[in-house]
Amino acid sequence: MDQFIEELLAKMTLAEKVGQMTQLTIDTIANGKAYKLDFPLTLNEEQLIEVVQDYAVGSILNVGPLAHTPKRWREIMDAIASKVNKTRLSIPILYGIDSIHGASYVMGATLFPQQLGLAATWNRDLAEKMGEVSAYETKAAGMPWAFSPVLDLGRNPVWPRIWETFGEDVYLAGELGSATVRGMQGDDIGHPHKLAACLKHFLGYGVPLSGRDRTPAYVPARQLAEYHVPPFAKAFAAGAATVMINSGEMNGIPVHSDPAILTDLLRDELGFTGLVVTDWEDIQYLHTRHRVAETQKEAVRMAIQAGIDMSMVPLDFTFTKYLIELVEEGAISEARIDASVRRILQLKRDLGLFKGMVEPQDQYPLFAGAEFKAASLEASRQAIVLCKNEESTLPLQKNQKVLLCGPSADTLRSLNGGWTYSWQGELTDEQSLPFSTIKAALVAQLGTNLTYEKAVDFAKELDIDAAVKAAKHVDVIVACLGETSYTEFYGNIDNLTLEEAQLNLIKALSKTGKPIILVLLQGRPRLIAEIADLCQAILLGFYPGNEGGQALAEILLGETCPSGKLPITYPKHPNALITYDHKHPENLELQGVLGGFKPQFEFGHGLSYTTFAYNNLSLSQSSIHENDVIQVSVEVSNTGQSRGKEVVQLYLSDLYASVTPSIKRLKRFEKIELEAGASKVITFQLSKDDLAFVGRENRWIVEPGTFKVMISDLSAEFVLQKTSKLAKA
Ligand code: BGC
Repeated sequence: MDQFIEELLAKMTLAEKVGQMTQLTIDTIANGKAYKLDFPLTLNEEQLIEVVQDYAVGSILNVGPLAHTPKRWREIMDAIASKVNKTRLSIPILYGIDSIHGASYVMGATLFPQQLGLAATWNRDLAEKMGEVSAYETKAAGMPWAFSPVLDLGRNPVWPRIWETFGEDVYLAGELGSATVRGMQGDDIGHPHKLAACLKHFLGYGVPLSGRDRTPAYVPARQLAEYHVPPFAKAFAAGAATVMINSGEMNGIPVHSDPAILTDLLRDELGFTGLVVTDWEDIQYLHTRHRVAETQKEAVRMAIQAGIDMSMVPLDFTFTKYLIELVEEGAISEARIDASVRRILQLKRDLGLFKGMVEPQDQYPLFAGAEFKAASLEASRQAIVLCKNEESTLPLQKNQKVLLCGPSADTLRSLNGGWTYSWQGELTDEQSLPFSTIKAALVAQLGTNLTYEKAVDFAKELDIDAAVKAAKHVDVIVACLGETSYTEFYGNIDNLTLEEAQLNLIKALSKTGKPIILVLLQGRPRLIAEIADLCQAILLGFYPGNEGGQALAEILLGETCPSGKLPITYPKHPNALITYDHKHPENLELQGVLGGFKPQFEFGHGLSYTTFAYNNLSLSQSSIHENDVIQVSVEVSNTGQSRGKEVVQLYLSDLYASVTPSIKRLKRFEKIELEAGASKVITFQLSKDDLAFVGRENRWIVEPGTFKVMISDLSAEFVLQKTSKLAKA
């Protein structure tokens, strides 16, 4: 118990406590209409007084129409603080912001690849660096709380938020998510360069059955425990201070109303003691969308009793009003309110907000500087995946004549995606930013050897004739396709296949006989089965960030050796959206009848300009007992002509188990760099937790039997001896 907090709590009225639990959007203190604020944004004095002084609101979030400079953000923070100082208890406001792939609502900030792109780097250090830079630059703008990272698993490729995830795998997401949290929070969230992370969106948000955002998910308890909980658990273990709740429903229960998830699992089982915030308007949606609450007031009661600490209301005072009434009527106890307010005050204290910890702007000399730029460029380089490269079509030679075409060739929107300067990222190209599109980066390198055929729309018919005509005069075609930026439900689609207009461009160009390099910039794996064979090389970037154009030009020209690996399965057919860790029956191909697992590109796939060979896979034991640690070593050699990075991936397969085992599961990985001709022995350790699964009783167990370890095309088996079932440590 913190004496400071207890003393403060004892002084607070019910209205002040409920105020702390209320979070409103900046729209409520700014001029203009909600969702249509005036631009440039100005604060409204009267509304500011109402929100901060009259209602003693605890938290404000968001940006308005467009990102602000650090200086403008600080003016906004100062204006809010000046009103806080006029309140009875001067409790500081906790400002929260969507700093996604960097301080994405701070003008001039350093933007990294989006999470799915970052996941393609398979590089923990880069994830940590992204977290560090994002925290530093968000704090440079005076804000102490970032709604990031996303720990939802992206296991439905249609879902418009899959690019916000670290992909489909439990281990990869947990490793990169916890590294990001470490980068953002360090050891002390009150440090001037650190802030509070907010894990999103607990729990089961990433697998809507329809693929549309915020539509029902059906997740069996076993899958929830084995797949969806562990990445969050790892990020909690890394110290994540806050968590945001899934807006959707799972198994028919909106998560915001579910005490089994928000209290039994989150608090009691996982031991999370930090702040739980709702997502946007989600208490109201219990009444208006999900229809589990007959009234708004009942929605508030349900959510608070389920375990919510703070409501992202975010546009009015209804939550505040109803919650006060509920306590006064005895439907919710004041002790329940106190539990949430304690957590909110504790977070504010840990962030140093009571000490007025907003450091002067000159404490942030690295903001948007060379060091951060270099880190984001390196992340962009490693985020690009070379999916195909027939007959060494890539890299290009500088004297080759190149036709560049396609709708993603000259736009920063396809490099950055949403949450970039604005929610939908639609204004990115209008900001005169000092970053190169692919076109700008290639012009700088190729000069007059580059011909460019403009295409602006992703869905409408492109000027195919002009591109075909131009192709006749070049040696090679670089066609840039994919998606523009979108966020949340704006990205819902009915068809995962790439738009026909784009497919038609490739089909027509292929008739010229010129080699085609397909560059895909997109937020999810749009299906390309119709054109993949028509392209000699394929490069892929899941929104690789502001430096993505530069990184792609370097890779196209061979200055950088590609090293990205897919963090999701790239499907081939619309009705075969199967993850890599599927079950055996999904892999069968019976009696010539079509079936089996045949994606376009597999999870973990990614080529290089050099080649790697794997040899001497060895296990320290061929037979182990439950508490033994087994060592797995493998020798990796760079057998090509140039230096390159490789991701050594260790998969495990439980050959027989009482719950059908997956074909394989990723258990370890290490990204290494080797000079041409060099070799290195990599050793991994596996222990009981790596062999465990959630059994028939929905509890973690290990079972004796044979396990197969796979690294690249090598494999070896060991036997787990002990017969009794033990709960996971
Ligand atoms: C999104 C969250 C986001 C919040 C605040 C919601 O619509 O689902 O991911 O953090 O808005 O902007």
